[in-house]
This record gives sequence, structure tokens and C-alpha cells, in this order.
Amino acid sequence: MLVHNFSIISLILAILVILILEGDKRMCGIVGYIGFKNELDVKDVLLSGLSKLEYRGYDSAGICIYNEGIHIFKDAGRVEHLKTLVDDSITANLGIGHTRWATHGKPSKRNSHPHQSLSTRFTVVHNGVIENEIELREKYLSNYPFVSETDTEVIVALIEKFVMEGTEPTIAIRQVMGLIKGSYAIGIIDSETPDKFYAAKNKSPLLIGLGNNFNMIGSDAMSIIKYTNKFIEIYDQEFIVLAADKVSIYSILGNQIERNYYVETLDAADTEKGVYPHYMLKEIDEQPFALRRLISEYFTDTDYNIDADITDTLRNTDRIYIIAAGTSMHAGLVGKQFFEQIANIPTEVHISSEFIYNTPLINDNPLFIFLSQSGETADSRAVLVKIKELGFKSLTITNAKGSTLSREADYTLLIHAGVEIAVASTKAYTSQIAVMAILATKEAEIDATVIKKDLSLIANVIEGITDNKTIFKELADQYLTKRSCFYIGRHIDYFVAVEAALKLKEISYIQTEGFAAGELKHGTIALIEEGTPVIAIISQENINLNTRSNIKEVKSRGASTIIISLKSLSSATDQIVIDDVSPILSPIVTIVPTQLLAYYAALSRGLDIDKPRNLAKSVTVE
Ligand code: G6P
Repeated sequence: MLVHNFSIISLILAILVILILEGDKRMCGIVGYIGFKNELDVKDVLLSGLSKLEYRGYDSAGICIYNEGIHIFKDAGRVEHLKTLVDDSITANLGIGHTRWATHGKPSKRNSHPHQSLSTRFTVVHNGVIENEIELREKYLSNYPFVSETDTEVIVALIEKFVMEGTEPTIAIRQVMGLIKGSYAIGIIDSETPDKFYAAKNKSPLLIGLGNNFNMIGSDAMSIIKYTNKFIEIYDQEFIVLAADKVSIYSILGNQIERNYYVETLDAADTEKGVYPHYMLKEIDEQPFALRRLISEYFTDTDYNIDADITDTLRNTDRIYIIAAGTSMHAGLVGKQFFEQIANIPTEVHISSEFIYNTPLINDNPLFIFLSQSGETADSRAVLVKIKELGFKSLTITNAKGSTLSREADYTLLIHAGVEIAVASTKAYTSQIAVMAILATKEAEIDATVIKKDLSLIANVIEGITDNKTIFKELADQYLTKRSCFYIGRHIDYFVAVEAALKLKEISYIQTEGFAAGELKHGTIALIEEGTPVIAIISQENINLNTRSNIKEVKSRGASTIIISLKSLSSATDQIVIDDVSPILSPIVTIVPTQLLAYYAALSRGLDIDKPRNLAKSVTVE
């Protein structure tokens, strides 16, 4: 067991992780389609694509289809609502669609995309943020009668202005791309040339999908995998012309670029809920499969299967800097323990949005590890851009092959968790941790069969937990009924506590904090009232008694307590007892009951579990 390799010196880091999920971050989704007549019906394609993009978070949706003119249907609200607005009698072969996350102007029909130019010749959908919107308005569009409050309208207004001044539309679009500062993935229809449409990208994700007799764009592969598995990546500052039988890629300067397509292995069925009421529950249940898949990817029968370039780089590094956001950052806190305790490499974990300001002194041979399930988080990407400029090495650990962070880092390790759709990340978290464990044990030259066995056992133990869900529903119904809640833990359990707290707060809206158990008494204990739930995680022998003392402290002040413990450390009254696993790897297991508690707490409140308010799966602007 790895516990023998794990220093028992307790490193209780007093990091208060305040996760700020800012409400003004935009993760809109885009779909676009052009086909020959009688191919697919563009309405179905766009609406199905937008449904698949719902997981990213949005508050409004809209489509524009072309049939002898532009028809726009849009409103604040869900894609289901949009479906009721669309005129079924119109068939069309060209269209673009959008899910909007309000940034510039509140969610409303007026601010929903698509947006049109004044003459209605140009129609646009846009994902991203135009940072110099005001400057552009003042310089070029001072008398322009804007209809919406969005930054997006500037794009069509500028294109039309340049076209009216005599510029050819494709040149006008590239000119506008050159003027915009910020992020964008855009789809544009010029109603005077309905045999094609245009797309462009900078920092925001966008892919081309190639079909027989049709071509598409989508913010991710999932949105269009139902129609094609042939994709072409679009790089930043590229301009695309799509026709039913042809796709042309250009640089912003107009030079044509040749790029091969790749075949996406994602199975369209993976994006369905199947028998599950929610994606989150499905994804919690998928964790053992995800781990087993990971094992098959990262090991041969008796050895590790990791690219030697990566392990060589790790060997030569004198400090690892883990850069991540949200749940991935919490996985990073656990990974730090592996890299330091198992592989003996000093490791720091940084919240990506803070790294730019709170940049630490950097060692001579650093390795930057970007942890990101989506591979698209803009805050993390900003750090990647910065450290690349400084000439430092980077490794992305992600679930998304071909994502921005993967493409732009020196190396990538995939977590092979399969599609994760629920906004609250579950299987991506456990798989990220498992990949870091494998990397650290490889570096420490621990026999591959040992870690393989430990991870296989963990997969089985998780199955034992997810097979018995009733207990979690009962506990959630009994305990998680208050306004606030605390998770506590010491040592590695503290890092699980912060992720457990995030899971509960993000989907149930119960105000929850993850605390270092010993720190609670230094102030926060004042918040404990009669019945306040305090949930403790106990997976390490050296903290067992101390954490139990902390539980007694809060209990005597009225808290209702739940203890999640490993069997060998459990006491008779612990409500959730988990079969023993390697203690250092225990976060992969101890998090699972907390995911289920969060799920059932949200379920009994009747909340939108897969799409919690104000949150999004992939945060593609800083
Ligand atoms: C969003 C998601 C979180 C995720 C975070 C970082 O806030 O809702 O679940 O942890 O972004 O995303 P990443 O894709 O970089 O892991």
C-alpha cells in the first residue's frame, strides 16, 4: 500500500479557499450549419446543438435561419422555450444559433443573439467579450442606433460600416477581427450570399464539423457529434468560410491555410442521460468505469504507459506549479500532496485567476501543470500564455483532447473520464487526481502493479458506495435542511472538505464552507447554531482523534454531525464508513459520499441539478 511511501508528517496548510464563481463570466455556445437543400433541417440541427450546449450555462437562446430572407427566433430562457417560438413551417439550409450568458445587458429578448446590422444584411452570434467595445463605439460608431446593450452588436455594425464604405465582406470581417480586443467565437450570415456563412475565433472555443453535403460549426464536439465525427480545429485569429460542400480556412491576413480533419471518438450516446434522471448522478456512477479506463490507458500489464518526454521533464524539474480553477484547483491541492510526499518534488497550487497578480518567485526549472477538465478555462489559459512567453515548460491534464490548453501546452495527459455534462464536476475531479497519482508514483519509481492494484481497489470501493444510495438520500433529507453547512477535515481530508463544500453549495445553494478542522475554533465556530450540519472526513490515522475532538466541540454547541471515515479508523456511530483504501489516495473515494449528499440535497430542494443557477461548465473568458 502506498501509505508506506507517504510521509506521515502532517502538512496542515491553512489555506482558506474562497472560490469566487463570478456571475459575469460568459460561456455562451454557438452552432452553425449550411447544407444542400433537403439535407438536414437546420432548425433541428441548431436546436439539438444548443440543447447539447446547455451544460455550459446560459440564460437566453436564439437562432437565425435563412429562407428567402433571415428569420430570427430568440428570447431569454431555456432552449425548450425557444423551441416553442420557432416557426415550424419554415425549412432552411443555413442557420446559426446561440446560447447566451448575460454580460453586457440583462437576459432579455433584445439582448439575446443573433444580432443584426442596421440594414439587417449581416447577422451574428458571438461567444466572448469585446474588451475595447466602448473605444470601438466611440471611434467608429458614434451615431449608430444600437438596438441592444451587448458588445456583440458592435461586430455587425462595424462589418456593415466597412462594407458600405466599399470593402468586400470577407475583408471587412477580417478587418473587424483585427480591431477587436478580447475573445470571440463568431458565426456570421451575410443575407446577400446565403450559399455560405462565416466564422472566426480568438480565445473562445470553436470547431468545424465536416459532413456529406453539409458543414457545421460548434463550440464543442458534443454539440454536433450527432451529425458528424469529422472535425477541424480552428486556431486563434482564423477566419472560416463555410459552404455546403467546402470549408476554407484563412489567416486574419487572408492567407489560405490547409488543415486536415481528425475523427472524434466521442460516442453520441455518451452525451445522453440514458436511464438517469440527471447527468450528475450518471457521472457519479461512472467514476469506477472512468478509473478502470484510466488504468488501461496508463499501464501495460506490469509497467507504466506514460510518454517518456513527460516523465523526463518531471525528473528534471525543481518545482511544480499547478494552475487551475474551481474543482480542478481542489484536485490540484490533492495532487500537490502526491508530488511532494510521493515524488519528492516541491509543488505549489495556484488559483489561475490570481496567478497573474500574485506571481510567485519561480524556480530555475519549473514545470507548470494546467489542470482543467474542459481545457478551455480562460483564466488558466492566460497563465499558460504568460509562462510560455517566459520559456517555461507546461503540461496540461485535461478531459478534452484538442482543447486550447492541450494544444498550447508542451505536453498533455488526458484523464479519459468520458464526457462530463453536469456543471458540478465529479468524475473529472477523481480522474484528475488519479492521473496525478500515477505520475507521482511513476516519478518515485514505485512498482506500477502496486498503484494499479490500489486504483483498481478504489474503483471497486466506489462501486460499493454508489450501489447503496439510499443512505445518502436519507442523510441529506435529515441533515442538509439548514441555510448553512460545514465540511471539516485535517491533512489531505481538508482538501476533500473544500471540494465537498463546493459540490454542496454549487448545486443545493446551501452556504457551505470547507474548513481545516483545527481552524474552525478560531472564529468560524461562532456560526454553529442548533442543528447546523458539520460533516467530517477522516481518512488518515494521524488525524483521526483530533478531528473527532473537533466534532465533539461543534456537537456540544448544537451542531448536527455526520462522520465519513475509512473502516479501520471508524467508530460505531459514524454514519458513512468506507472500505479501506490507500490513505493517500483516499480523496478519490471520500469525495464520492459528499457528491451524493450534494446531489440528494439539491434533489429534495427541487433544483436544477445539472445546470445550477449562475454557473457554467466551461468558463471561457477571464
Ligand atoms: C467552472 C466549472 C467548474 C470547474 C471550473 C474550472 O467554474 O463550473 O466545475 O471546476 O470551471 O474548469 P476547468 O475546465 O478548468 O476544470
